[in-house]
Amino acid sequence: MTTEETKTKKHYEILEDLPGIGPTTAQRLRELGFHTIESLATATTRELEAAGVGEKKALEVIRAARSGMELSFIRADELMRMRQNVLRLTTGSKAIDNLLEGGLETQTIIEFFGEFGSGKSQICHQLCVNVQLPPERGGLAGGALYIDTENTFRTERIVKMAEHLGLDPNETVRNIIFAEAYNSDHQIFLLDNADEIIKENNIRLIIIDSLTAHFRSEYVGRETLAERQQKINKHMHRLIRLAQAFNAVAVVTNQVMAKPDVFFGDAVHPVGGHIIAHTSHTRFYLRKASRGPVRIARLVSSPQLPEGEVAFKITVNGIEDVTEEDSSERGKR
Ligand code: GTP
Ligand code: MG
Repeated sequence: MTTEETKTKKHYEILEDLPGIGPTTAQRLRELGFHTIESLATATTRELEAAGVGEKKALEVIRAARSGMELSFIRADELMRMRQNVLRLTTGSKAIDNLLEGGLETQTIIEFFGEFGSGKSQICHQLCVNVQLPPERGGLAGGALYIDTENTFRTERIVKMAEHLGLDPNETVRNIIFAEAYNSDHQIFLLDNADEIIKENNIRLIIIDSLTAHFRSEYVGRETLAERQQKINKHMHRLIRLAQAFNAVAVVTNQVMAKPDVFFGDAVHPVGGHIIAHTSHTRFYLRKASRGPVRIARLVSSPQLPEGEVAFKITVNGIEDVTEEDSSERGKR
């Protein structure tokens, strides 16, 4: 964007503020999933034509929406200012928080991958409660959005975790917006239409549990791989933009597949391959330590932190640190 354009940068609040958009067109755009200036700014003319907007006008509207948005090119000092707004959310385990120098950062995506029962969904539940805590207790004093693809969200668990932290269980449950995604297209649709809900409910944590399950079952075979990756990629970019726009933490979970051709190390790797690995800023690999509640969390990639691994446990109260006692129990086995 040139200086001239920056000077004339306008601020638009709602669709009707855009030049050439009346109430009828605005309504049609909303029906197509464009609720905000931000989503319009990244629309294509073809998408707008579906709302009955002519090509020339569509181009005009998209340009106007873009000019009302944050600059695509920002100066490094602005980037620094954005980074200064980054807040941290506690996981409930001091050991994991310490690996992250204080907790999960806002404006980024954190991925938890691991096998069945490794604790991915339990961590997600715990985060939904923790995000509601005041900042001095490691929270963000906000709500959570939980997109559930495997029907594993349980309010009973939230109640237990809330009680343990001394929060009102009813209020804690009320501050979690839940949506079940029936298939991958529905999952994409839910996130694409989440902006208003996030804003209205002061959502500071967005969870997709699991990110990959639907894609994995629907896109079978090599020939579908490119399309699957492209869709997941777009979905993840939408997620990161929401996390940045609302200074929220974004969390996704991912199963691991057995990789029979690997004979040493951990014979597992996450579904989704490189695209997810590159869009996720921070990645944790979770695994069971032995029989019992103890789990190992390994930080496998982060833009600024070294790799490392720590133990935590899943109890009736939620995610907790292991105690000396747990460790000696483990030693005995
Ligand atoms: P998948 O979604 O199947 O890939 O697994 P996941 O990684 O999401 O596993 P999840 O987080 O659901 O972890 C399940 C494990 O958490 C169970 O096997 C239990 O060990 C533990 N867990 C879940 N609920 C409770 C509870 O109420 N009390 C206790 N003590 N442990 C629980
Ligand atoms: Mg799960």
